[in-house]
Amino acid sequence: MRIAITGAQGQLGKELQQVLQGHQLTLLDLPTFDLTHEDCGRLIVDAVPDAVIHAGAHTDVDGAERNPQLAMAINADGTERVARAAAQVGARLIYISTDYVFDGRGTRPYVETDQTNPVSAYGASKCAGEARALACCENTLVVRTAWLYGLQGKNFVKTILQLAAERPSLRVVADQEGCPTFAEDLARMIEQLVTHPIRGFLHVTNEGHCTWHEFAAEIVKLAGYRVPVQPITTEDMPRPAKRPAYSVLSSDRLHHLGFSMPSWQNGLQRFLRALPAGSSAPSRV
Ligand SMILES: NC(=O)c1ccc[n+]([C@@H]2O[C@H](COP(=O)([O-])OP(=O)(O)OC[C@H]3O[C@@H](n4cnc5c(N)ncnc54)[C@H](OP(=O)(O)O)[C@@H]3O)[C@@H](O)[C@H]2O)c1
Repeated sequence: MRIAITGAQGQLGKELQQVLQGHQLTLLDLPTFDLTHEDCGRLIVDAVPDAVIHAGAHTDVDGAERNPQLAMAINADGTERVARAAAQVGARLIYISTDYVFDGRGTRPYVETDQTNPVSAYGASKCAGEARALACCENTLVVRTAWLYGLQGKNFVKTILQLAAERPSLRVVADQEGCPTFAEDLARMIEQLVTHPIRGFLHVTNEGHCTWHEFAAEIVKLAGYRVPVQPITTEDMPRPAKRPAYSVLSSDRLHHLGFSMPSWQNGLQRFLRALPAGSSAPSRV
């Protein structure tokens, strides 16, 4: 298949490159492909792909709070450009979205039909991107994922490993709950979804859920560090962007399709094993 990937140099984009290497790939990212440019869709049209995986995004959640116009320009207007280009060549569009489209006041895992109500500029821009993708390209699947970490780029797991190596103790928020997701597992599932007829929304995360504190404690334990991880509240660590308190995504629809994802603990173990030597732990898992 011919597959175009936006955000190809990002965390998920790199994993997609690995997983999809048997396909004919068109890799799109800054600086040659800029979602804020009116004619960025031309590169997609020229490649005539069978599918477009739109992972490119403004992902700096706190930065988006300071500059919501830029987040909207990239995540909403840029997504519309990608969707129009995909539609023009009759390609399937997979738009990668986020648990941050929800307000986090729920008490059970969010299903695809639940009302969105983003509490941050980033969440609002991704939510607008969802609507534009679905409106501009008929054959669209919006894949919402969460708490993503991959071997490339910065992420929570790498930050915790670094802090565990440097500090006598860690403080991590224990009142936000979600679904950590290994980018490689998500990329493998996306490969299956590219040829699947499902449209609309689909939640795809590793199975299970935890708080950031529980996630950090598991990272520290598996990596063989002995530093204590202290639970704190969101109020103890004020940040520019509000985060949803509870953003667990239900896997029910994924299961109904006959698919399942590994548990978040399993994903984390394989991530730590795959990290290049010297980049993390005192004892390998
Ligand atoms: N990370 C998470 O926890 C998380 C959770 C849920 C959903 N998601 C979604 O999953 C997708 C992949 O996330 P990720 O973690 O792989 O993000 P990432 O590592 O930040 O990758 C995003 C890519 O998009 C590129 N990009 C930024 N602005 C652009 C522009 N104007 N034009 C073209 N490309 C641009 C980035 O380039 P630069 O690096 O040069 O800016 C980067 O290569 C995103 O759509 C994100 O919203 C992420």
